[in-house]
Amino acid sequence: MKVQMWDGTDAWLFTRYDDVRAVLGDNRFSGNPATAGFPSLSAARNAVLDLEPAFIRMDPPQHGHFRRMLTKEFMIKRVSAMRPTIESIFDRLLDELLQKGPPANLVDDLFLPLTSEVIAGLLDVPSKDHGFFQEQSRLKVLLDVDPEVPKEASARILGYLDELITDREKDAEQREDLLSRLIVEQVRPGHLSHRELVVMAELLLMAGHETTANQMALGVYSFLSNPDQLELLRKDPSLVRNAVEEMLRLHTIVHYNAFRAALEDVEVAGQMIRKGEGVIALISGANHDAAAFPDPQKFDITRKADHHVAFSYGIHQCLGQPLARVELQVVFGTLFERIPMLRFAVPHEQVEGKGDHFVQGLQALPVTW
Ligand code: HEM
Repeated sequence: MKVQMWDGTDAWLFTRYDDVRAVLGDNRFSGNPATAGFPSLSAARNAVLDLEPAFIRMDPPQHGHFRRMLTKEFMIKRVSAMRPTIESIFDRLLDELLQKGPPANLVDDLFLPLTSEVIAGLLDVPSKDHGFFQEQSRLKVLLDVDPEVPKEASARILGYLDELITDREKDAEQREDLLSRLIVEQVRPGHLSHRELVVMAELLLMAGHETTANQMALGVYSFLSNPDQLELLRKDPSLVRNAVEEMLRLHTIVHYNAFRAALEDVEVAGQMIRKGEGVIALISGANHDAAAFPDPQKFDITRKADHHVAFSYGIHQCLGQPLARVELQVVFGTLFERIPMLRFAVPHEQVEGKGDHFVQGLQALPVTW
């Protein structure tokens, strides 16, 4: 189906599971927003996409050149080794929360601090700066604001990372963080420029905390509004892995991410897409396709949902997914056990979603216990 975008241009919209995967698995569709026909989501989003691209917005072969530099950092084995650290960060944050007592806003008081500390720990970004990058990240994903807002937020975070990396370049050999490894293995031999590392670091820092924190908040929301599912999890904690896949599927928090433009004529589901036409592969549609996930609106933690496309599909499939999964498994394996009486502090209809953000989530998650 062709749809009209806010600026009067049109784009092909695919919502069926098989069709979305067909688009995302086909490199004749470009993920580079500079490609003719690339669909436009809003003026503010255009401003972000006009900035220097990280590899998430590149096509082969450049995309692979940069992504390969990071694959070993996010391998399942490597990330699994981080689980005890993530557990102890979460336990400490929970101790602090319990000590302070109810009520709390789990987004600001628990989930953003957790995901920020994990990704910042990997990059060795000082904890005094977490508030700063959380705020810039929040501004960068707003869709319905003056385009200067996300643009300036991005400039501030790039400026910050430029300074941090310049400093890191002095003694990278003596350090053990991911940025130092990239400096030693990629920047020094000339495979990656200083500026390319700054842009890559911004992608990791932003993609690495905002997304997962939002997913945690929505996951809690789903459990608290479906007490039967929470009961199932309590009875059988081994369901936590399934539950995490199911919440990723149900919420598909970055459903606007998989926009593409045809580099040549391509047929999808019997429809010819012409070179230069825009395509929206709606991963939230795919994840709610009843042919792939029966009764798709239901939050069902016994469902086998791991073929979902919440992390996209094809070459841009989320690099950080092993990390996101471990963080989510730690949270949902612990939270309801440590705070058994957890419940909404307001009627749940009053919990507000983040409609105007590129990444879906909750404005706040007020709870008590
Ligand atoms: C629940 C959490 C997360 C969700 C739902 C999510 C979702 C996504 C999606 C849908 C894409 C693909 C965009 C496309 O097809 O154009 C993507 C790409 C990416 N994500 Fe995530 N993400 C999450 C967490 C993370 C984390 C923790 C990191 C860690 C650094 C991360 C890093 C990246 C990177 C680097 C890419 C670009 C991959 C490429 O283009 O090759 N993400 N993510």
